[in-house]
Amino acid sequence: MHRMTTDPMKSFLFLSASTREPGHTGNTETLARIAAAALPDELPQRWISLAQCQQSAFVDLRHTAGHYPAPEGDAAMLLEATLAASDIVFVSPVYWFSVPSPMKTYLDQWSAWMRVPGVDFKARMAEKRLWVIATSGDRDKAQPMFDSYRLCAEFLGMQWMGPLWGKGGAPDAVLADTHAIEAAKSFLLRG
Ligand SMILES: Cc1cc2nc3c(=O)[nH]c(=O)nc-3n(C[C@H](O)[C@H](O)[C@H](O)COP(=O)(O)O)c2cc1C
Repeated sequence: MHRMTTDPMKSFLFLSASTREPGHTGNTETLARIAAAALPDELPQRWISLAQCQQSAFVDLRHTAGHYPAPEGDAAMLLEATLAASDIVFVSPVYWFSVPSPMKTYLDQWSAWMRVPGVDFKARMAEKRLWVIATSGDRDKAQPMFDSYRLCAEFLGMQWMGPLWGKGGAPDAVLADTHAIEAAKSFLLRG
């Protein structure tokens, strides 16, 4: 296995979008944990379950106030974690051929964070890389979600690192997808 040269400025943020109950690890996180285990020990990793965060519904103030106050509570934590990471990994099952709602709510906040005075969100996001680790029943029908994430990355000028997909279902089903498990072991070591 090849090793990544560790840059002291690098850190990975894993944002999980599964809505499994607390304490029940889903397939996507299982696959992502295998990918993360290959990263150098000294490279910081932070894991956040978006479904366990208190995320407010997004309000579009673009053409009224035109800017947003600094976020508070879990939104402030998510903004800080997002800005602190060099690499963001969306750990995302496919829900209805699309982005699960906890991730969608988080993504909508990017539109607010772009308009929080002093944050410089867009320019700072352009320095980051975006990865996706996903599971669902069917790879081809995951494509719309992958396209959405790629377009989000492109909108902010992030480096798109592409998706790793495994066949999910009941918890641990992904462990039977030997191709995905093997691919996971080197997925995050690219680039
Ligand atoms: C609300 C919901 C919608 C889903 N929609 C799809 C879908 O559109 N296509 C698909 O292949 N699987 C779909 N699935 C199945 C999940 O993608 C699959 O079970 C996945 O492995 C769950 O990830 P997790 O175990 O990490 O929670 C859906 C599951 C749920 C709960």
